[in-house]
Amino acid sequence: MSSQRVAVFRKSVFNAAHRLYRSDWSEEKNKEVFGLCANEHYHGHNYRLDVKLIGEIDPETGYVIDLKILDTIIKKEIHERFDHRNLNLDTEEFKNLNPTGENIIVVIYNILREHLPVKYDLQIRLWETDRNYFEYPAG
Ligand code: NI
Repeated sequence: MSSQRVAVFRKSVFNAAHRLYRSDWSEEKNKEVFGLCANEHYHGHNYRLDVKLIGEIDPETGYVIDLKILDTIIKKEIHERFDHRNLNLDTEEFKNLNPTGENIIVVIYNILREHLPVKYDLQIRLWETDRNYFEYPAG
């Protein structure tokens, strides 16, 4: 049988607080650009992460990847790092990087990419709210 590439998905949820803010801008400019998201005392989101992995079916197992292994990587590398954290204050990744959905998804992608074999293509979606979500790589 010729090679069959299949996309597999794993969804998960983590909770985190953040504030959109640049310390090199005035309070006024932060409020103007980021609105309520710049509020001093932070706010939280239930972030939903959809991981999409594309690869060939292993003829021996019938799997593209054992989803338990993918789930373990997501829990260990993403949830343990970000779940129930204040992204601005508690994480190295966002000490000097504004934790917008755009920046968060690129950070998460780069971490996952490092921990997954290169034979897989990876694309992720990050939902900040039911209405706002991000996709990386784009397209
Ligand atoms: Ni927010």
